[in-house]
Amino acid sequence: MTNNIKRRDFLGVTFVAIATLGGAVTLIGMKQAWNPLPGVLEGGFTEVDLKTLKSGIPKNVMWRGKPIFILKKTMEMEKSPRDLVIDNEHYTVVIGLCTHLGCIPAWKTNQWKCACHGGLFNANGKNIFGPPPRPLDLVPFKIKGNILVLGEEGNEYKKLLTVNV
Ligand code: FES
Repeated sequence: MTNNIKRRDFLGVTFVAIATLGGAVTLIGMKQAWNPLPGVLEGGFTEVDLKTLKSGIPKNVMWRGKPIFILKKTMEMEKSPRDLVIDNEHYTVVIGLCTHLGCIPAWKTNQWKCACHGGLFNANGKNIFGPPPRPLDLVPFKIKGNILVLGEEGNEYKKLLTVNV
């Protein structure tokens, strides 16, 4: 009789322990399934320290699978109402996809040249030659001190949207 009870107790405790462990593993699995994938989290916002940029040499970063061109202009480069201006420094911040058919233009002699059909964009991102129908598109951003945060629509970005080039 005593042996029977001990055996039943042991089986009961073992069952509860296994059920608890199984429940915990299931909850952890469900929590991981609900969390956004790392790629989604990374794709949301991209931060660029504008202090690290060299004048006249665009920095290319990826944001949500798109190339972004960030150019700190030299003193000699033409200024544009579409420039982002911080501490008297002028920046071009655009999506690096040709507005003709979406090729990625390359920076050569102070212009972005599109190898696909010969389109040209100046340092402001304005289309100046070839088939591209409009300037390089703006990318949503906001400014946090010297940090450019791609992916959020800050006041500076909203202001640039109103500019016609
Ligand atoms: Fe750039 Fe055609 S895709 S000029």
